Amino acid sequence: MRLVLVGPPGAGKGTQAEFIAEHFRVPKISTGDIFRANVSGGTELGQRAKRFMDAGDLVPDVVTNAMVRDRLAQPDATDGFLLDGFPRNVAQAGELDGILDEIGSTLSVVLDLDVDHDEVVRRLSGRRTCKNCGHVWHVEFDPPASENACDKCGGELYHRDDDSPETVRHRLEIYAQQTAPLVQFYDNRSQLVAINALGTVEDVTERAIDALTPFAD
Ligand code: AP5
Ligand code: MG
Repeated sequence: MRLVLVGPPGAGKGTQAEFIAEHFRVPKISTGDIFRANVSGGTELGQRAKRFMDAGDLVPDVVTNAMVRDRLAQPDATDGFLLDGFPRNVAQAGELDGILDEIGSTLSVVLDLDVDHDEVVRRLSGRRTCKNCGHVWHVEFDPPASENACDKCGGELYHRDDDSPETVRHRLEIYAQQTAPLVQFYDNRSQLVAINALGTVEDVTERAIDALTPFAD
C-alpha cells in the first residue's frame, strides 16, 4: 500500500495516520513530525524549516522534497508507506511521481479527509501533542487521563506553536491556495478517495479502512 493522506490542517491526518498505518502495516511518514523533530533537535534542516512553520507557510519544496526522498529510500518504506502531509502542492506531487517512477512503482491511492472549517478550528484549538511519541490528543474530544501527560507513554504534552488563531487562519489560506488544487489534481487522475471525517475518531478510522481496503495489495 502506497498511500497519501490529504486534508486541511486539523482534519485528523496525524490521528488517523497512526491507525491506518498500523492496520495496513506500513510506516507512517509525517513531514510535519519530521520537521518538528528536527526543529527541537536543532539540526540544520530544523533551522531551515522553522521560520516557515512558525509563520504557517510551506517549507520550500527544495528542502521538503530532499527530506522525503531520503526518507522513502529507507528500507522500511520499500514495501509501502503512508505519507501524512506530503505532497502538499502540485509540484511536490510531481516530485513524488518521479521518486516512485525511479523504483518502478506508483501510488495506490490518495485519501482525502473532508471536514468543515468550524470543526477544524475546534479541533486545533484543543489539540495536545506528546513530545515523546507524537500521539495527538484533544482536551475535549479525546482527552488524556491526566491533563499534561500522554496516556500511551507518559510523555509531556504540548500545544503546537503554529496552533495560535492567526497562524491557523494563515495555514487554512495556504491550504486553499496550494493544497486544494492538489486534491483536484489527484481527483482528475482518478486516484482520490474522499471520506467524511466528521464523527468520532473510531468512526472515521472505520470509514478510512473500508475506503482503502480495495486498494491494498
Ligand atoms: P503538519 O504537521 O502536517 O500540519 P497540518 O497539515 O497543518 O495538519 P495538522 O497536523 O495541524 O492537522 P492533522 O490533520 O494532522 O490533525 P490531527 O490529527 O493532529 O505541518 C506543519 C507545518 O510543517 C506546515 O505548516 C509546514 O510549515 C510544514 N510542512 C509539513 N509538510 C510540508 C510539506 N509537504 N511541504 C512544505 N511544508 C510542510 O487532529 C487535530 C486535533 O483534532 C487533535 O487534537 C485530535 O485529537 C483531534 N481530532 C482528530 N480526529 C478527531 C475526530 N474525529 N473528532 C474529534 N477530534 C478529532
Ligand atoms: Mg498532523
